[in-house]
Amino acid sequence: MMSASNNTFENVKAVILSAHKSTTSREKVDFYNSWAENYDQDVAVLDYRAPGLAANSISSHFSGDREAAVVLDVACGTGLVAKQMKRHGFGQFVGIDGSKAMLELARESGLYLDLKHSMLGEEPIPFQWADSFDVVVIVGALSVGQVPVGVVRELCKSTKPGGYVCMTTRSNLDNLEYRGALERELKQMEEEGLWSCVAVTEVEDWERAVSEQEDGYISGAVYLYKKLQLN
Ligand SMILES: C[S@@+](CC[C@H](N)C(=O)[O-])C[C@H]1O[C@@H](n2cnc3c(N)ncnc32)[C@H](O)[C@@H]1O
Repeated sequence: MMSASNNTFENVKAVILSAHKSTTSREKVDFYNSWAENYDQDVAVLDYRAPGLAANSISSHFSGDREAAVVLDVACGTGLVAKQMKRHGFGQFVGIDGSKAMLELARESGLYLDLKHSMLGEEPIPFQWADSFDVVVIVGALSVGQVPVGVVRELCKSTKPGGYVCMTTRSNLDNLEYRGALERELKQMEEEGLWSCVAVTEVEDWERAVSEQEDGYISGAVYLYKKLQLN
């Protein structure tokens, strides 16, 4: 893999494009293992704002005790989501990721009470109990080749009745089919009475484009759902 230590946009772009060759989620996670050390500085070059946007969405709707609330950060990576949520007063995080190298950096951040390894879509959520988290958040991982759409049902199961599930996805060309499938699943779950949609925030300048077909910024969306009390 190309080194992005000098941190130019062209270098970061080349690193990300190298991951597009990965077809299986295991290959994708291997890619994250090799990217972990440069991840935070490289995503800053991409103007990656998803963790902050998700934290804003949760913060503007959550009315409970933030210090006591337990947040499950799914596909937590190095810990950028917990870092942003902490700024909004949330204090208790547990994390899951499929990449051991990313988990190690999350551990070093000191932000998490517990961290567990799991390949979502292939393995269950390793925090067994249902109805337990005040907030479940997944940022930057609901996309083609990463976490399969069906996992959002498990995220809803892990959430306390009355709790929130916050999810992000990209709207660029190679993720449009995935985004369509995700939105159908979210709607289907709403029709089943599992949760209700609180907010969908469409963001035009989500992050800088790195694909051959796109320039400038790609768009993306933050979805916030509230688990219903009775289901
Ligand atoms: C773009 S990073 C996002 C990390 C963090 N949420 C953030 O916003 O900075 C995607 C993360 O998802 C993890 N991931 C991708 N597919 C996964 C899967 N199927 N199971 C578990 N983790 C997965 C990767 O290891 C990586 O840490």
